[in-house]
Amino acid sequence: MPIFYDAKNKSFTINTPNSTYAMYVTEYNLLTHLYYGERISDGADLTYLRHNSGVGRSLTYNEITYEDYEMKGHAKFCPHALRQEYSVFGIGDFRTPCLVGRFADGSRAIDLRYHDHKIIDGKPALEGLPAVYLNEGDKAETLVITLKDSAFELYVELYYSIIEGHDQIMRSERIINKTGKEFFIESALTLNLDIHKKDFDAITFYGKPNNERYVERTPLRHGKISVDSTAGSTGHFTNNSIIICDNNADEDKGECIGATFVYSGNFVTTAEVDHVGRTRLTMGINPTGFCWKLEDGEGFTTPEVILAYSNKGLGTLSNGFHDLIRYNLCRGKWKDSRRPVLINNWEATVFDFDEDKLVEIATDAKEFGVEMLVVDDGWFGHRDWDNTSLGDWYVDKKKLPNGMEGLCKRLNDEGVELGVWFEPENISEESDLYKAHPDYCIQIPGRGPMRNRWELTLDLTRKEVRDNIFEQMKKVISSCPIRYIKWDMNRNITDAYSLSLPADRQGEFYHRFILGVYDLMERIVQEFPDLLIENCNGGGGRFDAGMLYYSPQIWCSDNTDPVHRFKIQYGTSLIYPVSTMGAHIAYAPNINTFHHTSVFTRGVTAMAGTFGFELDPMHETETTKKEMALMSELYKKHYFTINHGDYYRLISPYEAQPVTVSRITAWEFVSKDKNKALFSMVQMDNVNDGGDLYVKLKGLDPDKKYKLHMYYENRHYKIKPFTPWIEDKDFGEYTGEILMKCGLHLNIFRGDNMAALIEIDAI
Ligand code: GLA
Repeated sequence: MPIFYDAKNKSFTINTPNSTYAMYVTEYNLLTHLYYGERISDGADLTYLRHNSGVGRSLTYNEITYEDYEMKGHAKFCPHALRQEYSVFGIGDFRTPCLVGRFADGSRAIDLRYHDHKIIDGKPALEGLPAVYLNEGDKAETLVITLKDSAFELYVELYYSIIEGHDQIMRSERIINKTGKEFFIESALTLNLDIHKKDFDAITFYGKPNNERYVERTPLRHGKISVDSTAGSTGHFTNNSIIICDNNADEDKGECIGATFVYSGNFVTTAEVDHVGRTRLTMGINPTGFCWKLEDGEGFTTPEVILAYSNKGLGTLSNGFHDLIRYNLCRGKWKDSRRPVLINNWEATVFDFDEDKLVEIATDAKEFGVEMLVVDDGWFGHRDWDNTSLGDWYVDKKKLPNGMEGLCKRLNDEGVELGVWFEPENISEESDLYKAHPDYCIQIPGRGPMRNRWELTLDLTRKEVRDNIFEQMKKVISSCPIRYIKWDMNRNITDAYSLSLPADRQGEFYHRFILGVYDLMERIVQEFPDLLIENCNGGGGRFDAGMLYYSPQIWCSDNTDPVHRFKIQYGTSLIYPVSTMGAHIAYAPNINTFHHTSVFTRGVTAMAGTFGFELDPMHETETTKKEMALMSELYKKHYFTINHGDYYRLISPYEAQPVTVSRITAWEFVSKDKNKALFSMVQMDNVNDGGDLYVKLKGLDPDKKYKLHMYYENRHYKIKPFTPWIEDKDFGEYTGEILMKCGLHLNIFRGDNMAALIEIDAI
């Protein structure tokens, strides 16, 4: 049994293949944490780890007598001294609390004690929330520990689920009010993890629109390191994941603990070092602006946190997250099937297109391997710019005189599929929907709402609003064979308020809004199970595990310049698999940065994602089109290794390297059976005569022999203009051992941002 309860010691142990998580119940029925780390053999008694540090001036639980305190050393039962399994506010644990609440009498002290527990087969779904699910044949177990307040009938069920073969623990809680009166939840974080150690680094993600999920690593120190969002979504500025790791941990070694939130609204995650050098890691819904009224008899479920441990560094931690997310969080046909190579018309045309133009783009792009055209923003209402028509999801006959059906037919006749952009959550004031239902948007009576890109947000907490949008979307999607939708959301939430909620429930708005988004997405998923959905939020502003439950891919960033994409995708890959990262070959020079990079470099970067195009073929030369065709071909050839293999970050684009040596970034995909691998690198900064490069590969079978074939860019100073061209050549045969221990021997290229791709096949 991977989860077991030792009745004698009143301890719980959860074993995954490579980790053990343990807790126990003290003589005062306090549930405290014992251990989270490397796998311990079955049957080991870890309760000797229970001693907690003193705090000086200890607070004691009410029932502890003077004698117990003085004679039996029970001072250690101070709430602030205990390593709590689930932290609460109000009785003397002064670190970050998970649960803060107010009883009907106005009091805020909560004192939770062990009540009972059960171990069940499987993993219960979380109603209305995205969560890790089981595939047919998956074996799973869930431990449910119920805590109860010492004075009132307030219960908290703690859920811990594990799936055979996976190293993650899925955490969530259900807070149940049986007090006979209302209870106001003022904070309900999901994760509490008290670790008896402080020497960790925290890895978090920061960014902004166009530059999401840059990696920041910093040592923990006394006090808190916290990242959060109050934007109503996960946001561009942070991501709802955190890793804490040994100070010397790297891709291959060191203890790492990672957590990612299966949620798409306001969040907070905090790593806090206390006065005696212990770390508390918390994660959950951001309490800022949150207050949930729980009536007697009601329950509140916190969204899920996926928690993982690795003692083999960040690479193993990431690959574990990737496998779970790919197969037990992403759903539907597209988690396994190869996604179509698409071309999106946004960077090509913005709002200025018509049926002929779209068909022309698709027909030309077909020549370089494109299988689907995505009509981005501007096909509906009379949307010629971004200040109008959101909410009017019917075709603009000026642009598409034959409707979506007419466009679809012409594309399908060319052998190209159709995809369509929507922004279901927002509304333009200049729209028929707004004229008919001005009350549908989020607004506070008497206060003009903030506009964001001239958009207001629909009050999706209301069913009638969701119904309206669902019906409109359904009509479009079922009008012809639409195979894909891009689900965009181009603003942050402000003026959080619903006309349908009473004053004492307005604190529920942000969470209810996200539940409304999930409900709408679920209805679309159920209605169109084979539809491929790509999520987007002004680029990558809602890149989170919650969204991946509905859409197996998310547009990673509006920044399509590989010079920045290396860093964005590298950061994203610490938690999320490449199969989830929307990535396209766009124009050169790039429309945002004006950096000029070759098709090959853009292609190699887009191959570390879902691969597609974002340009007008009309501006391409015969040569660049041929190169694009080659990139599509290479992607299609290797998609299985890319999407279903292991991913290795070999050389970080963040690493400062000696300035006299050319800087490179490199990554590698290896199929699970180790028969195929694909090495990619980009030389970011060329230093002339910068020396030879040796890059050690990872994940291969040391005993297998591999045949290497290289695609690379050549450029010679005597051949003008100095435009690189793509060549390919056999690159030798080596054993896995040699490739992993001695490394690939590569020459320096002549030029910045030049790429190489090496196919590695077992012979
Ligand atoms: C957002 C998306 C873009 C594009 C535009 C359309 O910015 O990130 O890819 O779809 O909206 O308005």
